[in-house]
Amino acid sequence: MDSNATPHRKILILNGPNLNLLGRREPETYGRTTAEDIMAMIRASYPGREFEYFQSNHEGDLIDTLHRVGYDTDNYQGVVFNAGAYTHTSLALADAIAAIDIPVVEVHLSNVFAREEIRHRSLIASVCMGSVSGFGPDSYILGVKALVG
Ligand code: DQA
Repeated sequence: MDSNATPHRKILILNGPNLNLLGRREPETYGRTTAEDIMAMIRASYPGREFEYFQSNHEGDLIDTLHRVGYDTDNYQGVVFNAGAYTHTSLALADAIAAIDIPVVEVHLSNVFAREEIRHRSLIASVCMGSVSGFGPDSYILGVKALVG
């Protein structure tokens, strides 16, 4: 790299509850691709970029992680966040996203608008940079694209 070039900052791929089961959880809805496979796809699509992955089934851990990276603007560029079912329930996650200084892109593997009505509402959408829903693993790639251009 040109020594004068600003190094790219990291992007956090953040997965919420039950997404540790990707690949074996309801494959008819979420496919057979694991989170590890998705990270490999993302890294192959953006070889010059650094990605960090974190998954938790616990709302507070997700909030702590958003706080950790969200003020570390020297090292983090943004977050691609699949909040799982917390998308539809968590005002606390929405507040955390609103509080931090880096952009967050909401992503979903499934098309939440084609599913049960309770999934049509996202409490985090209005505080995110934008939302991607329904493209399977490509939702994450599109989320990264929204952050890096
Ligand atoms: C999901 C959609 C949510 O409604 C659901 O609770 C999930 C996964 C998706 O990626 O399609 O856990 O976020």
